[in-house]
Amino acid sequence: MNLAGKVFIVTGASSGIGEHLSVVLAQKGAQVVCAARRADELTRVIGSIQAAGGSARAVQTDITDLDACRHLMKQTIESYGKLDGLVLNAGVSMWARFEDISDITFFQDLLNVNYLGAVNCCHVALPYLKETKGKIVSCSTAQALMGFPNHSGYVASKHALHGFLATLDMELQGEISILEAVLSWIRGTNLRDNAFGSDGKKHAHSARKHTNESVSLEECVEQIIQAIERDKKTVYIPRKLSMVPLLNTFFQGYLRRKVSGAIDKNES
Ligand SMILES: NC(=O)c1ccc[n+]([C@@H]2O[C@H](COP(=O)([O-])OP(=O)(O)OC[C@H]3O[C@@H](n4cnc5c(N)ncnc54)[C@H](OP(=O)(O)O)[C@@H]3O)[C@@H](O)[C@H]2O)c1
Repeated sequence: MNLAGKVFIVTGASSGIGEHLSVVLAQKGAQVVCAARRADELTRVIGSIQAAGGSARAVQTDITDLDACRHLMKQTIESYGKLDGLVLNAGVSMWARFEDISDITFFQDLLNVNYLGAVNCCHVALPYLKETKGKIVSCSTAQALMGFPNHSGYVASKHALHGFLATLDMELQGEISILEAVLSWIRGTNLRDNAFGSDGKKHAHSARKHTNESVSLEECVEQIIQAIERDKKTVYIPRKLSMVPLLNTFFQGYLRRKVSGAIDKNES
């Protein structure tokens, strides 16, 4: 896909991966509709895109609210007349062993944002994506393909989205395309600061340091953009994650030891 002149919605564009993706999409000549809940942060992102000569607008949106998603879609069509790409990026995480959780209600938030919010966006966008033979891009994780300690509710929500998009890909073959970006830990985002803890409250987990194996925000976004331009169906960031499906099927013991090691390093 040549990005010049294409219209993209990016959810979760007020920070992290969504913000940086919006900036780079606009640099490539796309018109970007930035969606998230925090209007002040969206204004900041739009300001920096426009200052660099790019075209973008903000639509304050809570993706868990279907009416808000309908409004987002209506504003996009009124502003730009079409939709070529929907980036499912808005997300929230957690960090707690399941047996230590005292307030489990945040599992509903994880599902509502990471899965049902994405489904809301797909439902309102699909008729317009079909008109342009457009693309859905999912900012997914290796944890959508395997189990992962301390992330049970997050893992479940990302598995749900993975299965949903795999089904859309079959139902809508030739009508739209889907890119799943399978990400490892990415440095420089707010995901850890906003992660739910065992008491069901959002805690700053940023004290957990990223290891050298994590990927910078800039590198992550560059690879997602390349995958969009090359019409790939999956991009593994870093590339070695492409081994996860194979390891999870045939060498689960080895994969579990690698994951445990990664958890230990991240808890130090
Ligand atoms: N960072 C990583 O290591 C990593 C690894 C694998 C996958 N991912 C995935 O990448 C995506 C982006 O994460 P990030 O690391 O960039 O985190 P981030 O900096 O915390 O960004 C999350 C974004 O989601 C938005 N959001 C949260 N709830 C929302 C809602 N109800 N409606 C609309 N927007 C909402 C937030 O904006 P508001 O608060 O303004 O609404 C924010 O812009 C997530 O789906 C995450 O699961 C990240």
